[in-house]
Amino acid sequence: MPKYAHVISTGSYLPEKALTNKDLEKTVDTSDEWIFQRSGIRQRHIAAEGELTSDMAIKAAKSALDKAGLNPSDIDGIIVATTTPDLTFPSTAVIVQAGLKAPVGLAFDVQAVCAGFIYALSTANGLIRTGQAKRILVIGAEKLSSIINWEDRTTCVLFGDGAGAVILEARDMEGEKPSEGIISTHLYADGSFKNALYTNGGVGLNGLSGHIVMNGHEVFKQAVNLMSEAVNKALEYNNLKASDVDWLVPHQANIRIIESTAKKLKVPMERVVVTLQNHGNTSAASIPLALDVPMRSGMIKPGQLALLEALGGGLTWGSALIRL
Ligand code: UT7
Repeated sequence: MPKYAHVISTGSYLPEKALTNKDLEKTVDTSDEWIFQRSGIRQRHIAAEGELTSDMAIKAAKSALDKAGLNPSDIDGIIVATTTPDLTFPSTAVIVQAGLKAPVGLAFDVQAVCAGFIYALSTANGLIRTGQAKRILVIGAEKLSSIINWEDRTTCVLFGDGAGAVILEARDMEGEKPSEGIISTHLYADGSFKNALYTNGGVGLNGLSGHIVMNGHEVFKQAVNLMSEAVNKALEYNNLKASDVDWLVPHQANIRIIESTAKKLKVPMERVVVTLQNHGNTSAASIPLALDVPMRSGMIKPGQLALLEALGGGLTWGSALIRL
């Protein structure tokens, strides 16, 4: 029987140390008022000394496994979306696999910056639907504090560290299209915008990881248009209206981008998940973090329809429609 990918659990992890806007006032020329008004962020979490992306990914994975009542031995695939891998190689996914003591199965990283989780989810969906794996841990994890220029006030106030995870399970599909779990994904990239958001260093370029450089205005403008387009593609493809969707789960980068996109899509803010005030922009970890919080609080209920959307460096962007 054909399979579809059901979301059976979510998990997340934020490092203990919270760096508030007030804390940042002491190190760069900024203010709590400016950061909150322009971005909606109140604080971000920063990994402890020696705490790596894989450590955060493992914690998020364990929280998803615990919630599902599963053990690492029940997992046969691990995909980690990250821009801040522990090492150039091997992948963070195999480090997570070893850390969890998960059995032999597929494991690899996906690099699509802030859209990474949507790309990873789409890839995992394909692997499940083609019978390559039965249960995949899809993780978004970032230690962005490693690539932030802490003297650049235009970027350092926006980003933070953290991890989120979902577990996808193969289930028998009645009919030709899934009506539950991952219903559709739409992925896009346009490399002509590669200079809008990038790191000014890299393994090939100079053997360094570099720091985040961003043309905030350009990214803002593109984010609203392209994420709205990706959401509309998902709606059109599934013959749905925005009002049919219970929750919009946007990339948590800027409250003004989230509000403008919701307005363009005519989705009231009561149906939009917003968690960025607590953790800032955590890139690939953003969507799974934003999904886990309302799933745990019971705000998002099983059976509800959620539309995920993200955009990041590349530019890369996309959407995923999920019935939870
Ligand atoms: O996840 C990937 C996607 N990334 C994004 O989605 C980020 C997209 N961009 C944004 O979120 C916004 O463009 C920012 C939050 C980065 C900036 O907001 P903005 O409303 O576009 O501000 P701005 O760049 O127009 O800056 C306004 C002023 C400038 O001063 P002048 O030139 O008007 O005198 C900046 O120098 O604010 C100044 N400024 C700051 N002031 C206090 C810039 N950063 C800061 C700061 N604190 N941290």
